[in-house]
Amino acid sequence: MENTNNFVSSSELALQEQFKRGIREINKNKNLSAFVFTLGCQQNEADSERIRGVLREVGYSITEKEEEADLLMVNTCAIREHAERRALSIIGRFKHYKAKNPDIVIGVCGCMPAQAHRSEQLKRSYHYVDFAFGTSMLHRLPEFIFGALNKGKRRFLLDSEKPQIAEGLKIERESTYKAWVSIMYGCNNFCTYCIVPYVRGRERSRNMAEILAEVQGLADRGYRDITLLGQNVNSYGKDLEGKPTIADLLNEISKIDGDFMIHLMTSHPRDASSEMIDALASNRHLAYHFHLPLQSGSDKILKKMNRHYDKARYLSIVEELRSKIKGVTFTTDIIVGFPGETEEDFLETMDIVKSVRFDSIFSFIYSPRKGTPAYDMEQVPDEIKHERYDRLCNLQNEISNEINNTYVGKTVRVLVDGKSKNNENVYSSRTDGNKIVHFECARDYTGTFQNVKITRADTFALYGEIIENN
Ligand code: 5AD
Ligand code: SF4
Repeated sequence: MENTNNFVSSSELALQEQFKRGIREINKNKNLSAFVFTLGCQQNEADSERIRGVLREVGYSITEKEEEADLLMVNTCAIREHAERRALSIIGRFKHYKAKNPDIVIGVCGCMPAQAHRSEQLKRSYHYVDFAFGTSMLHRLPEFIFGALNKGKRRFLLDSEKPQIAEGLKIERESTYKAWVSIMYGCNNFCTYCIVPYVRGRERSRNMAEILAEVQGLADRGYRDITLLGQNVNSYGKDLEGKPTIADLLNEISKIDGDFMIHLMTSHPRDASSEMIDALASNRHLAYHFHLPLQSGSDKILKKMNRHYDKARYLSIVEELRSKIKGVTFTTDIIVGFPGETEEDFLETMDIVKSVRFDSIFSFIYSPRKGTPAYDMEQVPDEIKHERYDRLCNLQNEISNEINNTYVGKTVRVLVDGKSKNNENVYSSRTDGNKIVHFECARDYTGTFQNVKITRADTFALYGEIIENN
C-alpha cells in the first residue's frame, strides 16, 4: 500500500533526532517554556499539537503566557487577508520580548510564510524573527530551533517542491476526549479564489494502517470525538498504491470498538460519491453532521471558481445524504462577492440557502489572494460585498433559529465540552449533529456523553436540562 515517495525518509527523521538531542543539551537545567499561537483552521490546530509535542520533547514546558516564554511560535493562516494581518500584528508584538531578552527564540510557520512574498517580508522587516517555514517543513522544527539557539543564520524556507508526510511526530493533544486525525495533506483542486494548494502543496494521503492505529489508540484511551482531517477527505487514497478510498477507510474505522463518534472535515462536493455516503450511513461511529462547502449557488460563479459541480448536483448530494442518514445536519461555507458575482448570481445563492435550509453556514467575504487566478479578475466593490454578506447572514439566522426551535421538548445526546466561557455554572456541549447545547449542572461531566432535554433555543444554540442517571 505504501508509496515511499510520499514520506519523509528515515534518515531525515534520524537527523532531526540529533538536533533534538543538541537542543536538550543546550537547554539542560534551564527550566524553559514555550508559547504557541495558532490561527486558522483545524489543520493548523492539528499542526500546533505536533509543534507542542516536539517542544516538550526538547525540554520546553508549554505556557499560555507569551510574555514569560523563552520560545514563541506563531502558526499562521493565509486563507483571507484578515488572517494574515492578524498574524503580522501578533508577530509585531513579539518584538518587545526579544528587545528585553535577546536569547528568546521566535519562529513563524504555517501557510503565511509558505508564500515567497511573505517569507521575504518577514526576513526583511521582522529582523527579530529567527526562522520561518512553510507547512511541509514541520518535521524540521528541531533543526530550526537548534540553529537559532546556536545563533546561526536566520532561516527562511518556503515549502519543499515535493512536500512529504512525516510519520511518528509526537502529538501533544489539547483535549483528552476530542482529537484531530490528519488523513491527508494538501489539495489538488485549485479553486480559483483559494491559496491552499499553493501553501499546502499537492494531495498526499497517509497510509491506512497508520491512521487506523492512531484511531484505535485514541479509542483505547477513551476519546469520544475524532475528526478525520484533510483539505478534501473524499479524495483520500488516490495517491496511494492499491488506491484505498475514503469509503474503505470509514468501513475499517467502523470495525474499531469504542464509544466514539467520527466527523469528516472537509469534503468537496465534486468527489462526494454514493460509495462514500453509503460508508457513512452504515458506520456505527458516524456523527450526524456533514459539512459540505457550497461556496456559491450560481452555476456561472461555480464554474469561475473551478468547483466542478453545479447547483443541481449539490442539491442531489444533499438529498442523497438526507435520505440515507436520517436526521443528518448540514453546515456549509459560502463566499460572497467573488469576482463577477452579479445580484442575480447572489440571489441564486440565497435561493439554495432557502431550499437546503442549512443548520448553519460559515459565510465569508471574498478576499483576493495574491497568486490565485481570481486575484486578477474584476472585483466586486466592497460596499456591495458587505451588503450581500449582511443579507445572507440575516437569512441564515432566521433559518437557524427556526431549525433550532424544532428541538424544543426533545431529548438529545451530547458530548460535554466543559464550562461555558461566559457563565461559571453553565456547561457547553454538542449533539452528534454538532449543535451547541448549554445546560446548568452541579457536576462536571466534561468529556462524557449525556442526555439533555431541550427547553429553549435561539439562532446559535440550544438550552436545556441534563437528565442525570444517578
Ligand atoms: N476569500 C474568502 N473566503 C475564502 N475561502 C477560501 N479562500 C477564500 C478567499 N480568498 C473560504 C472558503 C473555504 C473556507 C475554508 O474559506 O469558503 O471553504
Ligand atoms: Fe481551497 Fe478548493 Fe482546495 Fe478547499 S478544495 S482547500 S477551497 S482549493
